[in-house]
Parts: sequence; structure tokens; C-alpha cells
Amino acid sequence: MRNEKLNVSILDFGAIGDERGMITICEGEMDIPFIPKRVFYIYKSSKDVVRGQHANRKSDFVLINVAGKSKVKIMDGKGNEIVYALNRPNTGIYIPHMVWKEMYDFSADSVLLCLASEHYDPDEYIRNYDEFLSAVNGE
Ligand code: TYD
Repeated sequence: MRNEKLNVSILDFGAIGDERGMITICEGEMDIPFIPKRVFYIYKSSKDVVRGQHANRKSDFVLINVAGKSKVKIMDGKGNEIVYALNRPNTGIYIPHMVWKEMYDFSADSVLLCLASEHYDPDEYIRNYDEFLSAVNGE
């Protein structure tokens, strides 16, 4: 499922189960549009916390709540925004670069797995919303 305006997609990785439990597989350039160069995960964030609050000039992301729940709000700075509830270990959201994102409403057991297309470079993060608006609107 793809949101045309924001170029955000919901990805369903499926799951294979047997008597030993479940496995979900996420292969670079197959199940997600890039080969991850970086993996990190966010956990022990309380319900009232808002994380993210940034845009990336280069990095694309896939976010998966491998445990628990959270929400992610994505804004393109041109009036389009969308909120997704992440609440399944076999569903991810693909978030392209140059959109503003905020993660919030974390359940106590939330483990939010983040796959990134680029290595960490703090200089490609835009952490000021007005600067983001200027960057996307060419001001
Ligand atoms: P931050 O970007 O604020 O996290 P979030 O997007 O969840 O709000 O990062 C928190 C800290 O971790 C900050 O000091 C930068 C550091 N960090 C890295 O060193 N490498 C990384 O890949 C990431 C995502 C963060």
C-alpha cells in the first residue's frame, strides 16, 4: 500500500510459522527498496515521548515495531501528512528521505526496529522544522 503524495509505503513481510515459532524475513532490495547500511532500534521510550522530529537529506528508512506498538507521523512540508500505527512484527513502513517524521505513543514493550539506507551522518539530519520547510519549498 503506497501513499502517492508522500511516497510512503506499507510493506508486508509475511511470516512463516511452525511448531518452533515464527520467522519474518526482510531482504535488502527485495522486501525493502534498499540494502540497509545501518540498523538501530528504539525501546524504553515512554508514552509521552516524541522521537524523531527530523528529516534526512539522504537516508531512507524502514521502521518495524518488532514488539509492541508506536505511531509514526510523516509530513512532506507541503501540507500532506499521514499517521501510521505500527503494531505488527511482519509489517514495516518505508519512509523516503526529505520528509519530516515523528514517532510517538510508544507502548511499554515497544521495540521499534529501524533500517537505514545510509551510514550515520549527523550532517544529513535536518532537526529544525523551519529549515526543513525552507529546504523542501526551495526558499
Ligand atoms: P536521535 O536521532 O535523536 O534519535 P531519534 O531519531 O530516535 O529521535 O539519536 C539519539 C542519539 O543517538 C543522538 O545522540 C545521535 C545518536 N545516533 C547515532 O550515533 N547513530 C545513529 O544511527 C542514530 C540513529 C543516532
